[in-house]
Amino acid sequence: MGDSDQITFTEGNLKGSKLIEVGCGPTIYSLISASKCFEEIVVSDFTDSNRREIEKWLSNQEGCFDWLPTIQYVCELEGRSRSPEEVERRLRQIMKQVLRCDVRQENPFHPLTMEPVDCVLSSLCLTAACKDMETYRLALRGIAALLKPGGTLVLTDALNSSFYFVGQSRFSSLDISQSFIEETLRDLGFSIQQVNILATRKGDMETFKFHAEAFFYLVAQKTK
Ligand SMILES: C[S@@+](CC[C@H](N)C(=O)[O-])C[C@H]1O[C@@H](n2cnc3c(N)ncnc32)[C@H](O)[C@@H]1O
Repeated sequence: MGDSDQITFTEGNLKGSKLIEVGCGPTIYSLISASKCFEEIVVSDFTDSNRREIEKWLSNQEGCFDWLPTIQYVCELEGRSRSPEEVERRLRQIMKQVLRCDVRQENPFHPLTMEPVDCVLSSLCLTAACKDMETYRLALRGIAALLKPGGTLVLTDALNSSFYFVGQSRFSSLDISQSFIEETLRDLGFSIQQVNILATRKGDMETFKFHAEAFFYLVAQKTK
């Protein structure tokens, strides 16, 4: 969502020892700004091939994706307080675990039990993983249980969506509304601190091969 996560993690009030990302895919872009606020990051995804891509990048294996230009872009947004190489090194150092997770399970990390953490981040995962609104609600409950009281949820997802493509493969995406997501989070004991909505533009669907009316970027604090 543009530079929203850069702002979330640079204003100085969101800090802690550990962050978990749920449904990271083969990507690390959402952790670039977060890397300066946490001592340890755990990333997770359902798909073996996505986790392998992350592991390849962590050990800097030949042929791994080059995230340096993306890191460089984020460093520029942050005002060049850190060099891209320094951020890359720090990410590789603090990303301690790459775990399998399934957000449809009550404990997404079953059979592992995670100690509650300071921050959970999830981007574009739940509409992809959940077949209906009840499954989405239960997935959010499972994610909420990963947080300490007072911990922060940073959630990005699609609104009123139906599908997206990765290459030639079509994936379904659950149609949820902004009011559904906000009500569900309040029922789960979150106080919503920030919601940004980015409406999709004419032509986006053809260019990026997805259908969604908008994307949201939300920051919420677990109050109980
Ligand atoms: C649209 S991708 C988003 C990936 C990445 N977070 C990003 O922002 O680009 C959806 C991700 O959700 C993951 N996923 C699908 N079902 C899942 C499940 N049941 N539990 C956890 N992750 C799941 C997929 O493997 C994929 O990596």
